[in-house]
Amino acid sequence: MLPIDDAIRTRKTVKMQVEPEMPRPTDANLRETLNELIALAGYAPFHKACDRSHRGASRVVEPWRFYVLDASACRSLIPVVTEKAERPGRIPYMLAAADALIQVTWLPNPPEEGEEPTVGGAYLPTMANQEHIAAAAAAVQTLLLAATARGLTTYWSSGGFLRSAGMFDLMGIPAEQILLGSIFIFPDDYENETWSPGGMRVRRSDADAWAEWVTVPASGA
Ligand SMILES: Cc1cc2nc3c(=O)[nH]c(=O)nc-3n(C[C@H](O)[C@H](O)[C@H](O)COP(=O)(O)O)c2cc1C
Repeated sequence: MLPIDDAIRTRKTVKMQVEPEMPRPTDANLRETLNELIALAGYAPFHKACDRSHRGASRVVEPWRFYVLDASACRSLIPVVTEKAERPGRIPYMLAAADALIQVTWLPNPPEEGEEPTVGGAYLPTMANQEHIAAAAAAVQTLLLAATARGLTTYWSSGGFLRSAGMFDLMGIPAEQILLGSIFIFPDDYENETWSPGGMRVRRSDADAWAEWVTVPASGA
């Protein structure tokens, strides 16, 4: 297991791809590790409970939800995406390589009386919604780091076709939830297969380019 600083530094986007007709073998033993990652993600900070409308009969207050597809579910998804997506892109190739796909959603507060949804018809740009998104993103990053520490590789994707209403329906994701990311989990031996990195990786700056020390004049000065 990598120490936390090493996991932070070595985490990187790996978009591993194999031919959809010749998918990687699945490993049912990974389920325990995946459950561990998900449980760790749940330690992320969150400020406010999700709206009651998302809770149903449960008392689950977290503003995120995780929908987990193991490797064999990923393989079953390949023909569905290939047939239904207008532009499946590389998704079938990644589904053929993945150890898991985790669809992470966040739960927007519904508009209050008199408020109209203004962003994409889905949610208001309120402070509460901003904090729900931030909390769900913290949960995703925690998951990525926990995976990296265990020698797995990851890809946080916006989802493409995986965020469509049809995919929500198939996976049993309520339409009121909003996809924050489709998280692919890949093995560590990706170097022997086709893979591509994240586009922004080489554009990172040193911290002093985006962080600065603030000085505050002593009171009375
Ligand atoms: C919210 C979010 C959505 C992302 N969506 C995509 C995506 O749809 N396609 C993609 O190639 N990379 C996506 N990425 C991954 C970035 O490309 C990647 O993090 C970036 O290039 C930096 O590379 P690194 O993760 O290796 O440091 C996403 C990252 C975040 C945080």
